[in-house]
Amino acid sequence: MEKFRIHGGRKLRGEVTISGSKNAALPCLAATLLTAQPVILCGLPRVRDIVTMERVLETLGESCAHSGGATTVVAGAGAAHHAPYELVRTMRASVLVLGPLLARRRRARVALPGGCAIGARPIDFHLQALTELGADLRVESGDIVAEARGGLRASEVTFPRITVTGTENLLMAATLARGRTVLRNCAREPEVEDLAGLLSTMGARIAGSGTDTLEVEGVDELHGADHPVIPDRIEAGTYVIAAALAGDGVTVSGCRPDHMGALLGALREAGAVLSTDAGAVAVPPQPKPLRAVSLTTGEYPGFATDLQAQFLALMTQADGVSSVTEAIFENRFQHVLELKRLGAAIEVEGSTAEVHGPTRLDGTTVMASDLRASAALVLAGLVARGETVVDRIYHLDRGYEAMEVKLDALGAAVERFNPGRYL
Ligand code: EPU
Repeated sequence: MEKFRIHGGRKLRGEVTISGSKNAALPCLAATLLTAQPVILCGLPRVRDIVTMERVLETLGESCAHSGGATTVVAGAGAAHHAPYELVRTMRASVLVLGPLLARRRRARVALPGGCAIGARPIDFHLQALTELGADLRVESGDIVAEARGGLRASEVTFPRITVTGTENLLMAATLARGRTVLRNCAREPEVEDLAGLLSTMGARIAGSGTDTLEVEGVDELHGADHPVIPDRIEAGTYVIAAALAGDGVTVSGCRPDHMGALLGALREAGAVLSTDAGAVAVPPQPKPLRAVSLTTGEYPGFATDLQAQFLALMTQADGVSSVTEAIFENRFQHVLELKRLGAAIEVEGSTAEVHGPTRLDGTTVMASDLRASAALVLAGLVARGETVVDRIYHLDRGYEAMEVKLDALGAAVERFNPGRYL
């Protein structure tokens, strides 16, 4: 199993360029199932989850070709409609094919995702909403079997709670449903807006993009499109935090600071000095140590749960007591025990972690439990004394493109190794 070996204490300097957004790219790839024509997506990140989604599409008869930063997805002639468990269990977001398959092929068989390291994460809101659009759903041998014989029909749906992939699944389904669908209490994440942008370019009729109410006038068919995905605000946020933690003048470029308001606000509240322009965040050498700040994660435009672990790593080096409450997922503090192995002083009570800083971190071996927890451990390793080994780096590879290469270019000492190879 691959690991990172990090020699802590090096200062980061220079510029890092952000890749395309994983969580925007995944629904955009699923949206290609809505048309018979080729869809060209530009700037997809080279990460494991994208490869998995491409494999799901290939299982469904599509082909994906890569050339010069563009991915062209071409529909196949068949009517395959089964996303098998081998793929879905490695990536829950595979469930994003459910809406498009039902809308265009009128049937879908998608394995039910099982448990998850960061919480229960059911998909009941997706299923309930699809039922309201006329789908017949049942569970058979661990798969959701869905049919919409006469095609989906428009409806008014209010999500009981904001769900990102649920909003995306229903938005895609509604584009080809008969009539005008109204979706309420929708996620407003930039990734949902990016998907709405692609769908509109494909000929969908969507109003309210970027708000919590989406209105979709169904059309008979969608056509091909050429679409650049937005930069990854979570990857960008991770490097901005790295720069605040261990930087001596870092520019995070190719990003969208306007998508990062909550993080940049929290960093400024902690006393960080930073500046932004349309496509970059500059983090100069910090004149003073950071102060502890408290926050609660929330749906966009709130503080992203996907940056909570990295922010906790930062707070281990800030002065004072920081209280971080996780309000999206019920079990997203698995990184805490690992950060404590490095010497962090963190107590978790219910959904709140209290970090007492600053503490000296000493390198040791730690284990990644999920994608963002892995990133937090890498960040902690940058400031820990001596050598930190982060095990199970495959979690990180799901969503960060070449993280060790990007960090090394900034002057960090991060090496990928696989002890198995030498046995
Ligand atoms: N929920 C339900 N029932 C549902 C759907 C959601 O109870 O049918 C609950 C979830 O269990 C959770 C909350 O509602 O407690 C919000 O979950 P949401 O559906 O919004 O999460 P998601 O769509 O499965 C996406 C991202 C996650 C990110 C969350 C929250 C993608 C592919 N995934 O997940 O990203 O944490 O939104 O912002 O977009 C990551 O990239 O590391 C990652 C986990």
